[in-house]
Amino acid sequence: MGIRENISELRLQFETELAAAHDSDSVEKIRIAYLGKKGSVTELLKGMKDLTNEEKKEFGQTINVLKREVDEKITARIEAIRKEEEDKLVNSAERYDVTLPADTAFGSYHPITLVQRELEEIFASMGFIVEDFKEIVSDYECFEALNIPKHHPARDMQDTYYLDNGQLLKTHTSAAQNYLMRKYGAPLRAIFPGRCFRNESTDASHENTFFQMEGIMIDKDISISNLIYFMKTMLSEVFKQDVKVRLRPGFFPFVEPGFELDISCHICGGKGCSTCHGSGWIELCPCGMIHPNVLTAGGIDPEEYTGFAFGLGLTRLAMMRYGVKDIRDLNSGSLKALSQFNHE
Ligand code: DAH
Repeated sequence: MGIRENISELRLQFETELAAAHDSDSVEKIRIAYLGKKGSVTELLKGMKDLTNEEKKEFGQTINVLKREVDEKITARIEAIRKEEEDKLVNSAERYDVTLPADTAFGSYHPITLVQRELEEIFASMGFIVEDFKEIVSDYECFEALNIPKHHPARDMQDTYYLDNGQLLKTHTSAAQNYLMRKYGAPLRAIFPGRCFRNESTDASHENTFFQMEGIMIDKDISISNLIYFMKTMLSEVFKQDVKVRLRPGFFPFVEPGFELDISCHICGGKGCSTCHGSGWIELCPCGMIHPNVLTAGGIDPEEYTGFAFGLGLTRLAMMRYGVKDIRDLNSGSLKALSQFNHE
């Protein structure tokens, strides 16, 4: 076979082999097979020594062109394979290292939710129903039905957000008392947690949005002793220790008599520390015997029934329970602050 046929046959063979090579190792083998010391192209060049000068000139150039062509095609093929492999990796699971440890950030309940659920369980075990209530309420529900008539100075105690339509954002969970009395009548044991709003400037211990949990118990012959018993039982469970309670007089138009309930400090056990400002007591929750006017407004005969009510500051309780120093952290949505209260 003449050298000319050899060249074109070699080119054809090279192209076929190269097209069939799909990894860099195979291409490398082809490079050696054609351009290596004993490679086919190299052999062709070696074979030229038997040619005449005239022929050397003619075929030398052709073989050199072939050599360059083979070299370039191999380089291009290697580059194409490298890119192919890279693309495959980008689009496949292989780019993720499945042996890396998993991210251990679990979701968590908000501290207020945790405290709320715990209280709901405790009260449910004492026969209380748990009710939800709306956040936009009427003036009647929030004030009038609670023995706070218009222009009563007690309204100044609560900086209210009024809406254009005359309704308002509930300033306290007491706003649900009337609705629940009308809905269920007496006897009644109910707690109703909820979000409350007051137009206050905020600082570490004040928020314009906070949570309360209201409770009412209405039956025949309910007295202050029942109130003390329920509060003591419930708070001992919440703080997981036997707490002492004491009542001080407090004024709220919807209860008579009204009290501020204090508990013995759960940090120092009543000896006096920085949490209780040395007094051994912590002011926890206002409460009292439901005012006859409030029972009447709720459709319950105050001659037949009496009851107690309390308004627990859920936000405050959560802060005490979890040692949250700044109330604003609770509404911040900051996962860093809130995820500490994981998995109770
Ligand atoms: N609603 C009152 C407030 O937020 C708190 C309160 C006081 C609730 C006495 C009660 C109660 O049920 O008996 O300021």
